Formats: sequence, structure tokens, C-alpha cells
Amino acid sequence: MSSPGNTSAWIALQEHSKQFQQADFRLSDLFTNSANRFTAFSLRHENLLLDFSKNYLTPETLRLLLDLADQQQLSSAIKAMYDGELINTTEQRAALHVALRQPAASSDHPEVEDTLAKMEAFVAKVHSGRWTGYSNKRITDIVNIGIGGSDLGPAMVTDALDAFAVPEVNLHFVSNVDPSQLDNTLAKLDPETTLFIVASKSFKTLETHQNAASARAWLMHKANDESATGKHFVAITSNLEAATKFGIDKNNLFPLWDWVGGRFSLWSAIGLPIALAVGMENFRQLLAGAHSMDQHFREAELAENMPVIMALLSVWYTGSFDSHSTAVVPYSQSLNLLPSFLQQLYMESLGKSSDLQGKPVSTNTGEVLWGTAGSNGQHSYFQLLHQGTQFIPVDFIAAATCQSKTKTEQQQHLLANCFSQSLALMEGKTEDSTEENSVEKDSVEANSTNAHKTIAGNKPSNTLLISELNPYNLGCLIALYEHKVYVQSVLWNINAFDQWGVELGKKLAEQVFAAMSEPGSTTDLDDSTLNLIKQARDWR
Ligand code: F6P
Repeated sequence: MSSPGNTSAWIALQEHSKQFQQADFRLSDLFTNSANRFTAFSLRHENLLLDFSKNYLTPETLRLLLDLADQQQLSSAIKAMYDGELINTTEQRAALHVALRQPAASSDHPEVEDTLAKMEAFVAKVHSGRWTGYSNKRITDIVNIGIGGSDLGPAMVTDALDAFAVPEVNLHFVSNVDPSQLDNTLAKLDPETTLFIVASKSFKTLETHQNAASARAWLMHKANDESATGKHFVAITSNLEAATKFGIDKNNLFPLWDWVGGRFSLWSAIGLPIALAVGMENFRQLLAGAHSMDQHFREAELAENMPVIMALLSVWYTGSFDSHSTAVVPYSQSLNLLPSFLQQLYMESLGKSSDLQGKPVSTNTGEVLWGTAGSNGQHSYFQLLHQGTQFIPVDFIAAATCQSKTKTEQQQHLLANCFSQSLALMEGKTEDSTEENSVEKDSVEANSTNAHKTIAGNKPSNTLLISELNPYNLGCLIALYEHKVYVQSVLWNINAFDQWGVELGKKLAEQVFAAMSEPGSTTDLDDSTLNLIKQARDWR
């Protein structure tokens, strides 16, 4: 593989993009000019429909995009991932999150099923009340302490599957080193009936360490017995030594492996809070849904491969239409945390400027991913999407049915808003202001008002529609985005699985913390930072 910019397909796609940028181009014309456009540009996989027909796309576009995939040797890169090759080249590791949801019967990683069995036994003990705290009371509340991939995935899935929550326990997620998050959480809890999960692949993350130590102090204040830690703390980590040193009983340690990236880890023991929240059977359904998408990604022809099609369009928009961000708008309040989860998945994977050969990339890479649940987004940022100057493709996500069986009319309104927004983005509207008020037609005032009310349209979007929001379909949807991110990294010739960019901030934080703790201890910080430290101290 090499930079996509050197391929004939990339150059052809740049030339090809010009037709979509002509003044008279109307995205909606693509529908009038070709019957069955939806059929030609939509894909189904089990209970998931991808409608990509509202994109800048003709059969010729698709041919050129698939040429790009071929010239970037996508098929062999997909095989390399499933074969466990060291595709995380800078850390010399495999990226085998697909092995986490591979059925045991066909798995090459028995440690996965062993860990699932350990999780299952633990969940059963907690749910049944057989796991008790230092005063022999059952556990009612569980606090997951972790950040990034040790928080975002479990928190998002637990929230999304709230309708499947079991009554035995309440889940809480603490991630920020800001003490108020832990304090506000613990204020409502009883140390006798609270269990902490310390989730940290490295077991070196400052935020997690600080929160775990504070949580232990909170417990000790009431228990006043060091042995209570063993009853109220479990850990999920690849650093078993550090966790043991913290005081976690070795029987309460759930392993993580170096071939599981943090942002791809919710399927591993990092998903323990999910299993506690919705039960192990539903957690296994989540895995099964992801495995189903894994099979689709591995086996489907590239032209009928959902993650591949979505990735090719995103890479084309970034390379030929100067797109710098993409909005993900799930029309489901239960999926409100999905954009936050996808932010780490996307931007920690694709925010890279060195290619696999260690050279500076020659094309834009990465995308700023943002979004919130719809329909709320319509009352917040959709104005910019409709009349702004930026080219921002949108992924709409919706479920055909809702959990409530009595609120079907409201669910219909939710879906109608979702579908109408992608339609409005495509069609736009030329405004005749005389329709709405008494200004003279063609008067200066009318023309001015018309301009402000004109909506350009021609804004592309995908719509992902699932039959219902259940563990299986959610697993399928999340895996789709994991594989989309991998495909984009292959097309851009970058490593999706390392994150060297986050190390500098951590190192500097140590230096700044030292300067804050011992005034005058260092002067090799810049004038801004030194004065910020001084002002904060003066106001403390
Ligand atoms: O943000 C950097 C990062 O290493 C993420 O990749 C990871 O998910 C997060 O910090 C937490 O890391 P750990 O699970 O090792 O505490």
C-alpha cells in the first residue's frame, strides 16, 4: 500500500467529482434520472438497512471507488486483520477485536471463552446476591471507573440497552479526574452495597488511578477494614501486576490482551458493566450481532460490503470535496451516547499524519465526528447543516420500532423527522417570499428575503435503519463502524490502532502539576502557562 493520492483511481475520482460541483447539479436529479436508485444504492444485512442513495453517486462513481479499494489492496488488508497479522505496525500487535465475538467452537483464542465464563459466573453471583460486601449485604450499585475505551463503549451500550436492564443492580460510570463526578455519584450510594470495577488496560491512566484511590478511601472510611477492598473491587486490565499492587484480589481480575485496542474493547471483559446491566445472555447477543457483521465484512463482495461502501464515500468526500467533518445523528434518545463513542473510535484511529511507511501523508485523513440524538439536533445545529457553507455528510440512524408499545405515534413522528431531514438536506428549497408576505415580487426587498430563505440542498447523507434497538442489532451497528474505520485507514495508508498523539499531553500534565504543587519549582514553562498557574493559585 502507498498514499492513495498516487493511485490512478484517486486522480480519476478527483476529476469525476467535478460533475457534482457544477452550479446546475441537483442531487435529487439523480433520482429522477434513474428508476430504482434506492434499490441500486442500498444494502441489507439481517435487520440492518443501509440507504446510501442520497449520496453523490452514479454507477461510474461506484466503479471508480472500487478501483481505489483495489489499488489500495483492501481485500488483502481485510484478510490480514482476520488472520491476526501485526497490522498495528508501530506497536507490532494484531488488532483482533473480531476474535472477541468469534463463537468458541471456531475460535483460535480459548482465553476469550474462558474470560466470558468468568464474567458469567461473576454476573450470576452479583445478580443472585451470593456476592456480598464487607457487611454481608448484597450489591445494589456498581461503579465502573475507567476512561476512553474503558468507559465510552460500556457506557454507551448500557445506556442504549436501558430497556433490557435487569432490576438487581444499578450501573454508574465515572471517568473524569474532576472530583465532582465521583463525589456526585458516591453521594447517592452506600459503601456496604457498592462494588467498583476498575477498568484500565494499562492500569497506568491518571484519571482512573485517582478515582480508584478516592473510591477506596470512601469505602475504607465506612468499612475501616483493609480486607473490604477484596469484596468491593474488581479490575479489568492487561497489567495484572499493577492491579494486584493496588490491592485487587487476584481472583477478581479479568484479563485483557494486547491485541485488543482500547476503543475496540467493549466486547472483552471491559464489557463487564454491560453484562451486569443487561445480563450475560444479552451481552452474548451483542457479541453475536457483531460477529454477524464481521462475517459480512469478511465475505461480502466489496461492492456489496456495507463498511466498505461507507468508508469509500467518506474518503472520497474528504479527498475531493474538502469535507472535514461528519455528523452522526441517531434518531433514538437511547443512542445519544453513540456519537461520543464514535468520536474516540474515529478520531483516535484516523487522526494521523504519518503513513504506514513513516512518511507525512499527502492527503487529508481523519474526520471530525460529531453529533447528538435527533430530533434534538434539529433545534441546535441543523441550521448550519442546511444553510451553512461547509460540506458535512450526515449519517442518520433510526430504529423502525420503539421499546414503548403505547407510544407508536410519537415513534412515527421521530422517524418522519429523520427521513424528512435527509430529504431536506438533499432537496433544499428556493424561496418565493411573496408566498409568505406582501413584498412586491422581484422587488429589492423580496430578492433579499428570498436569498435568506433559500436552502441550497445537495447535501449528501446515509440512513442506517434497524428493525429495533436490541443487543444483536446494536452489536451489528457498532461493528459496522469499527470496520468502516479500518477500511478508511487502509485507504489512507495509515495505522488505525495506535494513539501516540495522546502521550505528549499526559507528560506535560505531570510537569504542570509539579509546577502547581511547588511554586517556583520550574521556570522552563512558557509565560502563558506560568501565569495561568499563578492566577489559579491566587484564586484558590
Ligand atoms: O486516550 C488514550 C487511551 O490510551 C485510550 O486509547 C484508552 O482507551 C484510554 O486512554 C484508557 O486507557 P486504559 O484503558 O489503559 O486506562
